[in-house]
Amino acid sequence: MDKIRIRGGRPLQGEIEISGAKNASLPLMAAGLLTDERLVLTRVPVLADTQTMALLLEQHGIAVERPANDGHTLSLGGPITNTEAPYDIVSRMRASILVLGPLLARTREARVSLPGGCEIGARPVDLHLKGLEQMGATILLEGGYVNAKAPNGLQGATIVFPLPSVGATENLLMAATLANGRTVLANAAREPEIINLCDCLVAMGAQITGIGTDRLTIDGVASLHGATCAVIADRIETGTYACAAGITGGTLHLRGGRLDHLGALVSTLAEVGVEITATDTGITVQRRNGLHGVDAMTSPYPGFPTDMQAQYMVLMSVAEGASMITETIFENRFMHVPELNRMGARINVHGASAIVRGTPWLSGAPVMATDLRASVSLILAGLVARGETIVNDVHHLDRGFETVERKLAACGADIERMT
Ligand code: UD1
Repeated sequence: MDKIRIRGGRPLQGEIEISGAKNASLPLMAAGLLTDERLVLTRVPVLADTQTMALLLEQHGIAVERPANDGHTLSLGGPITNTEAPYDIVSRMRASILVLGPLLARTREARVSLPGGCEIGARPVDLHLKGLEQMGATILLEGGYVNAKAPNGLQGATIVFPLPSVGATENLLMAATLANGRTVLANAAREPEIINLCDCLVAMGAQITGIGTDRLTIDGVASLHGATCAVIADRIETGTYACAAGITGGTLHLRGGRLDHLGALVSTLAEVGVEITATDTGITVQRRNGLHGVDAMTSPYPGFPTDMQAQYMVLMSVAEGASMITETIFENRFMHVPELNRMGARINVHGASAIVRGTPWLSGAPVMATDLRASVSLILAGLVARGETIVNDVHHLDRGFETVERKLAACGADIERMT
């Protein structure tokens, strides 16, 4: 298993190209199931998760081609020949559940393995299933699989989510594009990745209004056609490198990074002492004097993203004063805390909150990553730690961050992958 070795203490200077967003690419790829015509996606990051989604689509019968040399363009097309999403693929990546809505809408039946819990929490899919039932599907849970059928096609419905779920919004949105009649998704999630999906579906012929709001109205159409869509820049990668600049005291230009997608992160980081400004081609991040402890609470977009919580905690670990970080989205998302404490951080967890007391420095250590965002937080800690940090078992990192060690090394970090 690969490891990453970092010798900390170097401020980062330079430019990093932000990749296409993993969390936008996965639903966009699933949208390829909604038409037999070609869906061409550009700026798809080369990651374990996008490769897993490609594998899943291929076993549904979709041809996945990579016409450009860089592997970032995917051309999807072909009829669906198999409506089962098997356990061995879904267990690798929870977002596989996103094929359920499109398969059901297209072929009127689907058999998808239940994803189960994961490192950060139970993560049920009840909202996906209840929504499809409201649209007329019959759902039977059997042998660890969701068996869904809609012999007369899905029917439009008004679905009010009890809480905004990114995945459930995406699944039902895709299903609704081909349903009979009008579907309203109220209290829907409105993350930039959902806007990206809506824009792509509209380019494919879908009728959607309310894009960017928490109330989406979809008028079903008989069929969708091919289109070309670009994946938006990854706002979590952008935020992660913004924290890296703040932690190391450097200045980074994040090419392609979008200020308008960072939500509450911008004002929180400004209060901490990390300034983010828009440029013609991206954003610039710069630390102003010292770092100050500032409380943060995760919430749906445009609130503080749960996917930035671990990275922000590293920033707080080396800030002056104390801060409280509260996690409201996932119940078990502090798995990085014991590892950060082994590196000299002073963090106490009380239920859903962590109290972080800043220290002037961390010290390098061998550490183990437990999930995707936790692993990149350990890399950030390594960048500011004295001595050598070895982040073991980086397969989680490879699920969601493209060439992180090369991007950081190009800006002056002493970092290398050991295979
Ligand atoms: C997506 C992101 C993930 C991010 C999360 C929250 C992708 C591929 N993943 O995950 O990186 O951390 O949004 O921003 O885009 N819930 C239910 N029932 C459901 C569905 C969700 O109770 O049927 C709960 C979850 O347990 C969680 C909350 O709703 O507490 C939000 O989860 P959700 O927005 O669905 O996250 P994902 O789509 O799984």
